[in-house]
Amino acid sequence: MTQSGNRGLPIHIGNVDWAESWRRKFEIRAAQPVGRRDWDDRAGRFAQMAADLDVRRDPLVRALAQGVRKEDTALDVGAGAGRFALPLAAMVSRVTAVEPSAGMRASLETALVDQEIGNVTVVPGTWQEVTVEPHDVALCAHVVYFVADIAPFIEKLDAAARRACYVYLRVEGNEAPLRPLWREIHGAEFPSEPGLADLYPLLLSLGIRANVRIETVDRAGYADLDAAVAQARQTLALASEQDGYDGRIREYLSEHLMERGGQLRFPYPSQTAVVWWEKD
Ligand SMILES: C[S@@+](CC[C@H](N)C(=O)[O-])C[C@H]1O[C@@H](n2cnc3c(N)ncnc32)[C@H](O)[C@@H]1O
Repeated sequence: MTQSGNRGLPIHIGNVDWAESWRRKFEIRAAQPVGRRDWDDRAGRFAQMAADLDVRRDPLVRALAQGVRKEDTALDVGAGAGRFALPLAAMVSRVTAVEPSAGMRASLETALVDQEIGNVTVVPGTWQEVTVEPHDVALCAHVVYFVADIAPFIEKLDAAARRACYVYLRVEGNEAPLRPLWREIHGAEFPSEPGLADLYPLLLSLGIRANVRIETVDRAGYADLDAAVAQARQTLALASEQDGYDGRIREYLSEHLMERGGQLRFPYPSQTAVVWWEKD
């Protein structure tokens, strides 16, 4: 192995198989309703997030703006409705957007037409199943939580990038402020998704010594307590309003939410991590 860029000998932290530990977390989560996602159903929400993205403030867009060149080709794995593929298209010569969900692809294709963007190729399929040629830069934003077998996924991403790879993920799950309430209601720990603390040692075990930039991002705000209760019910996987928990949820939220900018918000910072490594 050559020791260049962010590469080195594999580092094993503790006596832990980090890929196996990732898989266990994934499986515990996937076995519960909170761990299942219908991406076609969520395409509208992701299209809205793409439209609302503030490209001057977004941590990943700012990192990409520093790292890519106009003549680059870029690969976006799990591009969704194009939240990052769309701004990236203006920064590089060509983007390939890999996306398995037909609903997400339809939203992305609509945005490409509406915004008259002609340099994005959409490739249907999961990252594990598609074949794409190497690109200068590869990126994968908010996708790794949904991958059971993480080591080959990362290795394929790494092999598909000639110069640099970017993985964007949450430092901890969005449910963090509601974990005590989950414990109270379900009598168990929330089945959290794998996050930065799982990815970093996994990368080290693959010989990748990545850079990490942690950024504070806004937590979702709620127009009023009713809206916060409705969202909390979803996060807490409570199906029916007849289950008797609304009073307790309302009490918990009243204790923890604070008003800021005309919205109710949890006053704890939420962070995302831009994890990136150079090839040489
Ligand atoms: C949370 S969304 C993120 C979309 C986009 N990257 C963004 O940040 O707005 C996750 C996306 O990953 C896609 N996805 C899930 N599993 C995938 C896989 N194995 N390979 C590629 N994409 C995947 C989903 O279809 C979905 O569009």
